[in-house]
Amino acid sequence: MAFTNKKIIAGNWKMNGLKRDSWQLINDLLSKYETPDEKHNFEMIVCPPSTLLSEVVSMTEGSPIRVGAQNCSDKLNGAYTGEISPVMIKDIGANFVILGHSERRSYFKESNADVASKAELAIEQGLTPIICIGETLEQKENGSALAVIEDQFMNSIPSNATTENVIVAYEPVWAIGTGRSATTQDIIDVITKIREVSEKKFGLRDVSVLYGGSVKSSNADEIFAISDVDGVLVGGASLKADEFWKIAEASEK
Ligand code: 13P
Repeated sequence: MAFTNKKIIAGNWKMNGLKRDSWQLINDLLSKYETPDEKHNFEMIVCPPSTLLSEVVSMTEGSPIRVGAQNCSDKLNGAYTGEISPVMIKDIGANFVILGHSERRSYFKESNADVASKAELAIEQGLTPIICIGETLEQKENGSALAVIEDQFMNSIPSNATTENVIVAYEPVWAIGTGRSATTQDIIDVITKIREVSEKKFGLRDVSVLYGGSVKSSNADEIFAISDVDGVLVGGASLKADEFWKIAEASEK
């Protein structure tokens, strides 16, 4: 079984947002739900910067909106100045953590092994990691994209992962923040590959797979028309309540 049967609409705020922005954004999103238990066919997850996690958890308590962090340590506690442990994230009341985002892989030199050890501890502590994988433009152009995806999947996903306790996000690096989303065929090719490798690793194809990279309300219909897409990981457009909500609604059409 996959993590959920609902579509996952996850927002990665990256290093954006001050207190007042998060109040506004979360209030605007909450006001889109007519009642707190209104039934939707999507699961909304917001991932603010760690300074706002506690704030956003309090604001969303008792609502359908769920909260995740954007990174965590691979250590439980100790002398690791500046790091945040998965047990601390769980303690705040968040339930998810984005790991292996391409920005962390490229700017902070995180390897597949680093991502796997963070994810292993996150799972042990009861968090659901959203593990990002994706090829660069150079890898796409030299024809190695599918091999890179296989390598990242096999080596970033830890041995205690199952299809029920992790979410995978396919985020082609060339589509992040560029306004250039992957084509339907690109997404189908890679997700087909991910399911193939998932079968190899877990004996199951149905791991939850999100697409991320320039998702907006204007291309959301096209992305959700791909039946194999289990949800989206949205950057820039998740900072605007109307846009983010429209993307979520597109998943229900
Ligand atoms: P954009 O939606 O801004 O392209 O960012 C995607 C992303 O990196 C989400 O994690």
